[in-house]
Amino acid sequence: MTTQWQALYSERGRTIRGSAVRDIFAVTQQPGMISFAGGMPAPEAFPCEQVAEAFVKVMREQGTVALQYGATPGHGPLRQYIAGVMMADLGLRSGPENVLITSGGVQVLDLIPRILLDPGDAIVVEAPTFLGALASFDLYGPRYLTIPVDNDGAQVDGLDRILAEQPGVKFIYVMPTFHNPAGCTLSAERRQRLVELAAAHGVPIIEDDPYAQLRYSGEPQPPLIVLDQQRAGASRGEGPYREGNVLYVGSFSKILSPGMRLGWVAGPASVVGHLARAKQGVDLHTSLPVQMTAFELCQRGFFPGHIERIRELYRQRRDKMLSLMQEHFPAGVSWTRPDGGLFIWVTLPKGIDAGRILAEAIKEKVAFVPGQPCFADGNGLNTFRLNFSNASLEQIEQGITRLAAVLRRQLST
Ligand SMILES: Cc1ncc(COP(=O)(O)O)c(C=O)c1O
Repeated sequence: MTTQWQALYSERGRTIRGSAVRDIFAVTQQPGMISFAGGMPAPEAFPCEQVAEAFVKVMREQGTVALQYGATPGHGPLRQYIAGVMMADLGLRSGPENVLITSGGVQVLDLIPRILLDPGDAIVVEAPTFLGALASFDLYGPRYLTIPVDNDGAQVDGLDRILAEQPGVKFIYVMPTFHNPAGCTLSAERRQRLVELAAAHGVPIIEDDPYAQLRYSGEPQPPLIVLDQQRAGASRGEGPYREGNVLYVGSFSKILSPGMRLGWVAGPASVVGHLARAKQGVDLHTSLPVQMTAFELCQRGFFPGHIERIRELYRQRRDKMLSLMQEHFPAGVSWTRPDGGLFIWVTLPKGIDAGRILAEAIKEKVAFVPGQPCFADGNGLNTFRLNFSNASLEQIEQGITRLAAVLRRQLST
């Protein structure tokens, strides 16, 4: 008898659904298609030669270590570098015990609900939020509470009431800097308020920050974890991040390579240790050759110059896309002007279905991601996301011109 696999799926297994971005991925492979859909870095930004050199050096000099099983929390020197240099550059005092290396930032978004959520627990997410986060959280059966996002990021004012009325919220998941998909950045005032509210209600914040280094304009803002350390430090004195409310999710995907699958979580050592225990049962540890190759690049001082080059590349692409949208998009359509990251968020007049516009756009060989799947509350029918990092300047010119023609046609009917 042949197994009826679907009939055997668990309740959890039945909640798994494919991502809208991944579904569009197949369409974007069609010849001639210009895709603003994925969140992919530019292929020109990949340092193939430097990675090859670093990898060969690791294998020649430490091959027997790199190819052996490793420690779950991660390669010691890389943890030290992330704590002592990368997080320190952001303003956090931390040590390696505050850092767990993971297989991309997305793995952290699976490990955190694994240790914190029971089915039916309430969590707060932004509306819109990162589609990949919803896909991870969904598996643990949370009850979503949402806070809307505007040009200054999450509207944290409503949060006090939500947390007061719904005791037991397990965490607040936010992207304060260069939001995916909304492209906005949380203002300084709201950052402070959010950290204070979380502390007042004793609710953790998950700060997802994979785009931190990709700033093209405007002034840097301190991460929430740094503000939280300052808040806690005021009563407890200096020292590494021991007690606190924030788990910070970092990633090498946008500054090195998403294919290498390398990220980390930084937070209070006790909870980071528990996340490491959860990771043991998932993949034991993140690929050691990948960690050691990345550390070799860190040690060579590769990142500052490389990040500067990527910033310049993406700044040009962002500017080009924004100026073409300004020139060609019809009245009634509005969009964000991001200071960094990879995305522009577009809002159509009320009642217009971005999915319908996508179907027309695909006929003209241009693709984007409709916004609705990014809303846990089902809103966002009239929104969509444009990525500006992956297409060349010529493709941006052609693609935005084609898309503007589709929008003009559709909005006039
Ligand atoms: C907000 C956000 N978090 C996390 C990730 C995942 O990154 P990683 O490739 O490190 O898993 C992404 C990637 O697009 C993202 O946009």
